[in-house]
Order: sequence, then structure tokens, then C-alpha cells
Amino acid sequence: KALVAIVPAAGVGKRMLSACPKQYLQLDGLTILEHTVNRLLSVDDIQHVVIVISPQDGYFNDTGLANHPDVTTVSGGKERVDSVLAGLKAVDSARYPWVLVHDAARPCVPKEDINALISRCRETGDGGLLAYQVRDTMKRGDASGQVLETVEREALWHALTPQMYPAAQLQTAIEKALEHNIPITDESSAMEYVNHTSVLVAGSSENLKITRPDDLAMAEFILIKQQE
Ligand code: C5P
Repeated sequence: KALVAIVPAAGVGKRMLSACPKQYLQLDGLTILEHTVNRLLSVDDIQHVVIVISPQDGYFNDTGLANHPDVTTVSGGKERVDSVLAGLKAVDSARYPWVLVHDAARPCVPKEDINALISRCRETGDGGLLAYQVRDTMKRGDASGQVLETVEREALWHALTPQMYPAAQLQTAIEKALEHNIPITDESSAMEYVNHTSVLVAGSSENLKITRPDDLAMAEFILIKQQE
């Protein structure tokens, strides 16, 4: 029943406009990465976390996660997908047949959402991801910024993480997609490429990915609100 979570944390966070990679910025007294990993480890079924860090990482050893008994680290790659693959290679899929992949930059994921994802994936036996339906009217535009059309909103979801799949199948899917130069921005897109079914599990929009400086204040607000 035990699960392992892979946390890609090897990005540089260019859009954050900060010298320190965003996963190491402080929020309410802890780094973003510590919040994220603590939350994953607070889930009963998650036994171990593999954190994928940059080979040039100069910050991890100063966090409270260094020497944590339930955490290991591996070196990441050029793109997020390369880092996820490095994490998968470090997982013993006989011991952990299923993995969750969760972005380091999403510290506000509610624990109940992770539990909902785990139970839905176990129920369906396939795999899936947290997501929420888009709220705004959606437009397709051309390169010059002219509206081409209004896209039907009911069918559109924001893809979040965690995403949960059978470890060995996810690894094969990613390797195949990379071999054919298919752009892979999340696990679900690799599984789509090999025609594997995924379930969309409704999650909270509080599970934002910290990307730009404004997101920090929002994430801090959400974290404090969640403690109340
Ligand atoms: O850049 P973006 O916010 O999309 O990155 C999502 C997650 O993937 C972040 O937690 C980031 O640290 C991680 N990442 C990675 N290896 C890369 C690029 C991004 O682990 N080469």
C-alpha cells in the first residue's frame, strides 16, 4: 500500500527574478521545498520522497530535509521531464508499484486532495491527476493577438500535481515520448502519448504553482489560512 512521491526540484525558476531558486525561498519560516515535502509526508500512504535536485544545488543541505530518514535526493536534468525520469530511475518499482509526482513549487496542495487522488487512482486502477475546471471564458488567439475563436470551456481543466501512475509504465511512457521528441510538460501528457487512461480528480485552485514574484504572497496567505 505504500507510495513514493517524486518531487522535481531541479529548476532554476527564471520567471521568479530571484538569485535563489524559487523552491528555496522562505514562506512562513520554512523553504517552499520543506513545506511541499512535509505536506507529502503527512499523507498516511506516502512513505518516502525522492527529491530531484540540480547537480549544482547549493541550498538543499541547509534545509531541514537533509538527512531526513524518509527522503533521498537524486540529480536532475535539463527539463522537468528529465528530472522526473531521473527520479523514476531511483525508485524500486517492485517495492513501490505506484508513484506520485509533485512539483516542489506547489506547497499549498491540500492533504485531502492528495488523499482523493490516491483513492480514485486505486479505484480505477489507471492513474490520474489533480485538476480544476477553468472559470474564465477561453479564447484561442493568433500570433498577432487577434481572437480566432472562443474555446468551449466545459471541457477544459487546469492540470495540477500530484499526478499518480504505475511507476514502470510512467517511466516507459516518458522514455518513448522523449525518443520521439514529444513535448512533455507533465506526467499525464506522457501517458496520453502511450494511450493510457487518466482520470481528472477535482482539486483545489489553492494548489497554485509558485512561478512569479506575486505568487509568493498568495501562497503565504493560503498556507496561513490552511493552518487555521
Ligand atoms: O519551471 P516550472 O515551474 O514549470 O517547474 C515545475 C517544477 O519542476 C519545479 O518544482 C522545478 O523545480 C522542477 N524542475 C526540475 N528540473 C528542471 C526544471 C524544472 O526539477 N530541469
